[in-house]
Amino acid sequence: MFAGLKEKYAAVKDRKITTLFDASRAHEFAVQTDGLFFDYSKTNIDGETLALLLDLTKTAGLAKMRAAMFSGKKINITEDRAVLHTALRQSSGSVTVDGQDVMPGVLAIRARMLKFSEEVCSGTIHGQGGAYTDIVNIGIGGSDLGPAMTYLALKPYLQGPKVHYVSNVDGAHVTDILAGLDAQTTLVIVASKTFTTIETLTNAETALRWMGQSVANPAGQFAALSTATDKTAAFGISPDQVFGFEDWVGGRYSLWGPIGLSLALAIGSDNFTALLNGAAAMDYHFQSAEATDNLPVMLALVGIWHAQVAGYATRAVLPYEQRLSRFPAYLQQLEMESNGKSVGIDGQDLTVASGPIVWGEPGTNGQHAFYQLIHQGTNVVPCEFMIAQVGHEPDLSHQHQLLQANCLAQSQALMLGRNLDVARTIAASKGFEGAELERQARHRVFKGNRPSTTLIYPKLTPYCLGQLIALYEHRVFVEGVILGINSFDQWGVELGKELATALGPVIAGAEPGSGNDPSTLNLVSKLTQG
Ligand code: F6P
Repeated sequence: MFAGLKEKYAAVKDRKITTLFDASRAHEFAVQTDGLFFDYSKTNIDGETLALLLDLTKTAGLAKMRAAMFSGKKINITEDRAVLHTALRQSSGSVTVDGQDVMPGVLAIRARMLKFSEEVCSGTIHGQGGAYTDIVNIGIGGSDLGPAMTYLALKPYLQGPKVHYVSNVDGAHVTDILAGLDAQTTLVIVASKTFTTIETLTNAETALRWMGQSVANPAGQFAALSTATDKTAAFGISPDQVFGFEDWVGGRYSLWGPIGLSLALAIGSDNFTALLNGAAAMDYHFQSAEATDNLPVMLALVGIWHAQVAGYATRAVLPYEQRLSRFPAYLQQLEMESNGKSVGIDGQDLTVASGPIVWGEPGTNGQHAFYQLIHQGTNVVPCEFMIAQVGHEPDLSHQHQLLQANCLAQSQALMLGRNLDVARTIAASKGFEGAELERQARHRVFKGNRPSTTLIYPKLTPYCLGQLIALYEHRVFVEGVILGINSFDQWGVELGKELATALGPVIAGAEPGSGNDPSTLNLVSKLTQG
């Protein structure tokens, strides 16, 4: 399936991206929709490559798979589940799973969430000490990263109680968060799809004990978000503070429903609805736009060109937006838990690389940290820049302009580079001569020709963030379909969980079982000495 592309890559890999530009490339190698603009002209993709990439979508049967996902077919074959996070942001219509329309349930739980949020914010629902001032969301992975990332991203829209996110089983996390809070005006939300995740349950029990020190009915100040309502009941959480959902919502795709309760509380119903609407608009775009005008499809194809064809092992996501500081971490779960697999849907080993390593930091901070490697390191890292047309600080528009200039300068520098002649002139201007000038000049060379894309969005509003998150969700889906991967299971996290369960008692003093290796046993003894 990739042979033609690999051949093409071999033929053009040393070509200068700059030579591809004619009067129209900057406009043609771009996608524009609903305020978003995605530029991929600074890549080595030409018209012929684009055609080959588009063929992949046909060979892989993307349109059929997409229709299957949106209509509730059980495309998560290893867990025999439908994949319907898209239903969570619909405001009408019907989607059938196992002969049942799921939409009445989706709308009912959303209405309950929003009502609960409004009643918490108004003080109708309150703690022992009065209206809730603080919310602690305890969850991990998909039950943390999406809401925590979005909470930071939408700071200008916060209007409810303060939300704090606890995820790590390291007792330092829960301790540091609870330390500043008044238990009598704190609501704890336990967010866990399965309600079996050891980190979340351990932190929830710690929080319950903390609450019990000053609140007569501590479980009364707890809410739960889960598919396992039997387990939330066993924990002691009242059913009217439990918000359930179905197994067809994957953990890393779950912020649109009950797992988003902390967000609804923080940004209010209208903003939460705007977030959903932005995602729903992207869903519509993904289903209806032609491939070359389709943002998720084009992001995915550029990604495939770089990761599976060119063989670049990582991709940097570089939002020039401080409030998107957790976006790369969020994408790490979304992309790597979804497409970091070496066996395809057919049970056979993949014959190409799986999804790439995704990493990043907001600009301009990253510029003063790892951009050195991006510009001059021996590994080529395709970069994905993101920048808003306007910021939220009208008084600081000059700072936003500086941010934009930096963003554009980086992609320009990556592509144009700086040759040895220019570097020599610079070294000469510093007073270097002869062999020393040559040596100094070589350090100042930028090979350039490094690919990047730039995504411009109007302003980081709830609607726009909804579009962006859904864009990346669908990008992962397209890549997964082309690679033949089931993007919706995560068996790769299981072994570590099982071994941790077995090692816990050993660290606490029990005799180790025979399956342990000498290195691990030695580390256990080092950790438990002193
Ligand atoms: O790390 C594995 C994982 O299952 C993720 O997929 C999930 O988002 C996270 O754990 C948390 O799971 P839960 O919401 O069931 O506690």
